Amino acid sequence: MDSPDTAWADVRLHVVTGKGGTGKTTVAAALALALASGGRKVLLVEVEGRQGIAQIFDLPPLPYEERRIAVAPDGGDVYALAIDPEEAMLEYMEMFYGMRRAGRALTKMGIVDFATTVAPGFRDVLVTGKTTEAVRRRGKNGRRIYDAVVLDAPPTGRITRFLNVTKEVAGLARVGPIKNHSDLVSGVVKSPETAVHFVTLLEEMPVQETLDGISELRAAGLPPGGIFINMVRQSLLPQAALDTAVKGRFDSEELALGLKAAGVTDGSQASALAGALAEEIVEHARRTELERAERETLAGAGLTRYELPLLADGVDLAGLYELAESMRTQGAA
Ligand SMILES: Nc1ncnc2c1ncn2[C@@H]1O[C@H](COP(=O)(O)OP(=O)(O)OP(=O)(O)O)[C@@H](O)[C@H]1O
Ligand SMILES: [Mg+2]
Repeated sequence: MDSPDTAWADVRLHVVTGKGGTGKTTVAAALALALASGGRKVLLVEVEGRQGIAQIFDLPPLPYEERRIAVAPDGGDVYALAIDPEEAMLEYMEMFYGMRRAGRALTKMGIVDFATTVAPGFRDVLVTGKTTEAVRRRGKNGRRIYDAVVLDAPPTGRITRFLNVTKEVAGLARVGPIKNHSDLVSGVVKSPETAVHFVTLLEEMPVQETLDGISELRAAGLPPGGIFINMVRQSLLPQAALDTAVKGRFDSEELALGLKAAGVTDGSQASALAGALAEEIVEHARRTELERAERETLAGAGLTRYELPLLADGVDLAGLYELAESMRTQGAA
């Protein structure tokens, strides 16, 4: 095991949030691989019941049970767990009241549904409880079972409530096992052992959501982690050319000459082709300019930023390893 000398070396629980569709599941999976590499053991957890992890690793649906799903570069194991809130509730009842069977009956009667629908805070505390239990779990030798746990978490709009369990269950239970349970959860999520990472794109809406999410998190005393800027497109042109294009001063005649000289096209077509290309170049330059502005806005949040490339062929297993590698080179893991 190499000595973890990265930004998040002391973090045991990595919570990955972000606007819907920006790549939370992808980033969580790649981060788990990156953290595991070099011989560590990492648990990747999902909570939305959508089997996103199974899909991304090209596996059949995961049971409510920790199992090894991938081997990291240079050794190291990624385990996965898809938390089913109903199963978590039964487990919880067994643990605290020794009433798993009664729990089954309660499920049949729809009481579990009732409890989790009427009191969403209770549902969340079961899920975060299961996650933080994995974080705290120790083997016989007293060492933690998992070097890190990565949580593919609910989106930005819900993350603070989701993690702020003490507040959410305060109305449900002031004493007793639920209260103790939620205190254990906050003991982990409000500590320096936890980091809440934000996934975003270089677009106005997700960037704004990220900033709002970070403020909310801070206000609730929860620890923000890094910002993962996902699906970053490589800029194709030198800055000088981009500047010219944004100002609308791109010279398509010059481009036509260049195309002719390079033998890309013959004289008669050169102007038309250059005209079409010039339009695309202006478009590309404008977008690059907007992206630059969004980057600056994100920098204002004062968190470490990482950039992950847009994978041209989408995210397959090889793509996940590529993203994990990129995280490692940037010191995220
Ligand atoms: N770096 C990338 N390059 C190319 N495609 C990507 C990249 N990251 C994510 N994607 C693709 O974008 C889509 C959304 O990604 P993902 O499912 O990880 O997002 P999500 O935030 O978890 O979405 P949801 O809010 O639905 O849970 C997927 O099709 C995924 O393969
Ligand atoms: Mg997802």
